[in-house]
Amino acid sequence: KESKAEVLPASSEAAQKLKISIYFATWWALNVIFNIYNKKVLNAFPYPWLTSTLSLACGSAMMLFSWVTCLVEAPKTDLDFWKALFPVAVAHTIGHVAATVSMSKVAVSFTHIIKSAEPAFSVLVSRFILGESFPMPVYLSLLPIIGGCGLAAATELNFNMIGEAAILMYSFHDANSLILPPGFMGAMISNLAFVFRNIFSKRGMKGKSVSGMNYYACLSIMSLVILTPFAIAMEGPQMWATGWQKALADVGPNVLWWIGAQSVFYHLYNQVSYMSLDQISPLTFSIGNTMKRISVIVSSIIIFRTPVRPVNALGAAIAIFGTFLYSQDRQSSEVYSIVEGQVHGRRM
Ligand code: 3PG
Repeated sequence: KESKAEVLPASSEAAQKLKISIYFATWWALNVIFNIYNKKVLNAFPYPWLTSTLSLACGSAMMLFSWVTCLVEAPKTDLDFWKALFPVAVAHTIGHVAATVSMSKVAVSFTHIIKSAEPAFSVLVSRFILGESFPMPVYLSLLPIIGGCGLAAATELNFNMIGEAAILMYSFHDANSLILPPGFMGAMISNLAFVFRNIFSKRGMKGKSVSGMNYYACLSIMSLVILTPFAIAMEGPQMWATGWQKALADVGPNVLWWIGAQSVFYHLYNQVSYMSLDQISPLTFSIGNTMKRISVIVSSIIIFRTPVRPVNALGAAIAIFGTFLYSQDRQSSEVYSIVEGQVHGRRM
């Protein structure tokens, strides 16, 4: 007969798994809605610096309102907290605007397929900058995850790759004008920036009284302050006014609702993702984020009517299988403990 002491940890581990699964499902669903509205907005009003700023402004306003009305208890922060948050906010700002610029230039699925390499960036940064290494099965499980995501978006990838490669060729041809392919580069920059953001966010949250939800709110506010002057410098009111007239003429007032929806859902999905990050390692977070991209790729293919081939479905299945391998690998639980600096080996 099992003793109470043996039963409790197993049930609390199951409860923890259930909680993280609910966070992940909510995060992915909110992200799908964000991506659809974000692309609709960028198609009609292609000003990624402004739309990135508006997403942060909306999230900041929502959280300030929640704190003032006591819907959410305001975090107790000091100067040291904000100082430590600054590099995280710089990384968040760069990652956010780079991804949005990418999505304004290429198909949603193209950006997401490049961004599915985020776990690889995570292990590379951990290995070469932080000096943390991982067991071989972890590296191996990344191959089907990233490769499978690649196949899932193969149709769009071919189409956009031709355009991006042409930009690169032109840039090499004309040495005076170095133009990097914005869709590809934006997504790659975003990968790198978000890995730093995740690792340092995790460190910032550990042992602190600030919850994942409030940590992300503070991050949003600081990123908004950082991004606003750059958005004005890169695009500016003149361009926005002209673009707005065109969007109104082409789409009508609906575009305003789309901007509202993309901004609200941007904040909500990130908030839930930070509630997950509070509980898991940065690498598990990156893998969850990559798996999220399958739902985004599938839904954007449906909504934006991209033709699908069996190879795309096969890719999604391979990526899901890779994630299964990662989660089954007992050694990944040790990685989890190492990264988190915790003694227990909860597997995610
Ligand atoms: C953004 O605008 O920040 C990106 O669309 C989000 O990228 P993510 O899918 O990695 O959160």
